[in-house]
Amino acid sequence: MSERYHAVVPAAGGGTRLGAPVPKQYLDLGGDSMLHRTIDALLAEPRLAAVVVVVSPDDLRRPAQGRFDARVRFAGVGGATRADSVAAGVEQLDARAEDWVLVHDAARPGLSAVALARLIDEVGDDPVGGLLAMPVADTVKRCDDDGRVTATVDREQLWAAQTPQMFRVGLLRQALSGERLGITDEASAIEKLGLRPRLVRGEPANFKVTLAEDLQMAAALQQKGAA
Ligand code: CTP
Ligand code: MG
Repeated sequence: MSERYHAVVPAAGGGTRLGAPVPKQYLDLGGDSMLHRTIDALLAEPRLAAVVVVVSPDDLRRPAQGRFDARVRFAGVGGATRADSVAAGVEQLDARAEDWVLVHDAARPGLSAVALARLIDEVGDDPVGGLLAMPVADTVKRCDDDGRVTATVDREQLWAAQTPQMFRVGLLRQALSGERLGITDEASAIEKLGLRPRLVRGEPANFKVTLAEDLQMAAALQQKGAA
């Protein structure tokens, strides 16, 4: 039997940088929560067999399970860091080691079906796995503690990582099993094993909602998509 595809959505963060009264994944984006939009973006892909949404154990805002497609399951196993939440979510999967897991931030509601399909198509036969990312377009500066430029960094080989990040369940479990200090995304955990994840072109609309101004942009794009 061929391998299956699963998704884990880390949604246990507090949204400190955005600074809203509720965690950002519960903010409204044109009539539905950001989390709901993100889950719907994943469900558009028929190859995904299951979507595990990781929320905090004490999260009373998690939506009722029944509102979603039967592929969706909420798990109150979120941890102190994103990597902890992802590691706990992967353990919730009913998956074999050779199956694929796509980890996608709850805070990226703008993922298109096209970009999601592209990731699966391009990484589906890769020995390591890969992630959506964008080539860095701006000139990049390094700075000192005073906010003054000390160097211009060659952007030729620089990409900004997005999600989903797609790896085999067994490999990701191994990568996340030890000390998780300094692990920001799944790819960085895989890199620590000495492996090189494949970069697949993402899209600008798949940015992460981090600050209050990002929310306005996300709402505007959702409206445009619905029009
Ligand atoms: N996340 C998580 N568990 C954590 C921290 C983050 O599941 N302990 C999730 C967030 O809910 C989000 C994704 O990881 O969907 C990306 O994290 P980030 O954008 O940093 O979200 P927050 O941690 O909520 O925001 P902030 O860092 O501003 O507090
Ligand atoms: Mg965070």
